[in-house]
Order: sequence, then structure tokens, then C-alpha cells
Amino acid sequence: MAQKEKVKSPLRFPGSKSKVLKKLQPFLNTPHIEYREPFVGGGAIFFGKAKAQENWLNDKDFNISNFLEVMKNDAENLCKLVSRTTPTIETWLKYRLDNINEEIELSSLEKAFRFLFFNRSNYSGIYNANPIGGINQLSQYKIDCRWNPKLLCSRILHCSKKLERVRITNFDFREVITRNGENVFMMIDPPYYHKGSSLYPVFMTNEEHVELSNLLRQSEHSFLLTIDDCEEVRDIYNWANIIIPENWHYTVNSKKKDNLGKELFVTNIII
Ligand SMILES: C[S@@+](CC[C@H](N)C(=O)[O-])C[C@H]1O[C@@H](n2cnc3c(N)ncnc32)[C@H](O)[C@@H]1O
Repeated sequence: MAQKEKVKSPLRFPGSKSKVLKKLQPFLNTPHIEYREPFVGGGAIFFGKAKAQENWLNDKDFNISNFLEVMKNDAENLCKLVSRTTPTIETWLKYRLDNINEEIELSSLEKAFRFLFFNRSNYSGIYNANPIGGINQLSQYKIDCRWNPKLLCSRILHCSKKLERVRITNFDFREVITRNGENVFMMIDPPYYHKGSSLYPVFMTNEEHVELSNLLRQSEHSFLLTIDDCEEVRDIYNWANIIIPENWHYTVNSKKKDNLGKELFVTNIII
């Protein structure tokens, strides 16, 4: 029996589907025994849907798979670090320097904590972006404006519970899509075709997008893919059902009018 509990990820994520879960819901309702997300990112979809009997979350970005693993197995210690921290520019600069210092060895817990730290204190949650308010903190919004330890710890503990018995891996998408399984539904949310390289430390080339399309075409698993609407994508997926969701918003700079309705659903499910 599927567990009903829906929770919120502590991660902010460029391209997160947290605000558009309702539009995905008819597809997420497709009966399935196993749920897979080869590109899990901040996990907004998995945490926001009913849990299946078997669940497999994957991301090629080590920081993401490590964060999920630590949140699953060591949530209390992660919360202790969160509770005793208030982001400052000094800490932000120190962590940035540590990132390029090969002599610094951090534990998985510390890596997960610092990933969350940058996620909550950088512009739009982008790992390589500047801190909110800029290095000089001249804006009305400061580096700690999205750091609410109580709320973050509550989300971490709820997500930790939901991650019980969930498989978390750090593979390339090919591994996850091609693995056999019984009654599998895959939610496929790859990096955007055009903006991907500016949003994610790990993104995909045109060749990889073509390979993804070929694997999905051959797959027996049900899937829903969401991606930016552009000529290249329409061409790559010309074999599939393409749906244009109404009033779809990008979540990066979503206030801009020209970001309206620019994503596509690609699926092999008939609704
Ligand atoms: C659009 S984001 C996923 C957002 C997520 N659905 C959410 O709501 O938060 C795409 C993710 O794909 C990951 N990724 C990029 N290339 C990959 C690859 N070859 N295999 C697996 N994951 C990859 C990135 O690290 C990134 O986290």
C-alpha cells in the first residue's frame, strides 16, 4: 500500500517542481509498484507525492546523493549543525575557499551540511552562485534570510522518515532507466536543454539528451518527462506524446512574463 504522507524538501532547487506538483498529479497517479527518479535534484516530486512500495532516487551530482543519504541516516546530527549555525559572509567565504583546497577532507555529514548551507544562502539555491545580498551585503535581503533552523530541521526530520527503505544512488541516468523492474513509473526531470549549464554543476550535452530520448523510446517502464520547450527538444522527442501544460511557470526567475508556459511534458502514458 502506498504511504500517503507528503512532505517538503529542505532544499531550494533551480527548476524545482514543488510549485507545480498539481499539474504532475494525474501522471503520478499512474498505478506503479516502483517509483524511480534518475534526476532527483532537490527531491520536490518524490517528497510531494505518495510513497510507492519501492523507490529509487538518483543524481549524478555527488553533493545531492550524499545529502539525501545523510538526511536519511543521520538526520539528528544534521539538525544539530543546522541549529547552531547562522550564515554569515565570513563563513560563506571560508566554505568557498575550503571547496578549492584539496587538503581539506570533510566527513559526509559536514559535506551534506555545507551543501545545505550554500543551497539556502546562495541566489536561487544555485550551488555556484553568489550569496543572497551579494558579497557586500548591501541589499535589503541578507545571506541568512532563507535560513530558518526550526523549519529546516522539521523538514529534514520528516524527509528522513520518508527516505526509510528508499534506494539512493549516485549513478548516471542510463543505469536507472535501463534496469529491469516490475510495474515501474519513472519521473524524468533532466537539466534544461538550454539553461542547464548555468543552473546545475552537473548538466547534459545535446548528445546526452538524444541518448536519454533513445533509452526512453526503448523502455518498457511508464514515464513522464518535463523539459524546456524548444525546437531541439521537440525534434529529439518527435516519436513521443508531447503535451503543453497550461500556465506553466519556470521556477527560476518565475516572475518574468516570458517564462510562462515554456515547458513540455513528454510521456508514454495515455491519460
Ligand atoms: C532539473 S534538476 C531536477 C530537479 C528536481 N526534479 C526538483 O524538483 O528539485 C536536474 C538534475 O539532474 C542532475 N543530472 C545532470 N546530469 C545527470 C546525469 N547524466 N545523470 C543523472 N543526473 C544528472 C543534476 O545534478 C540535477 O540535480
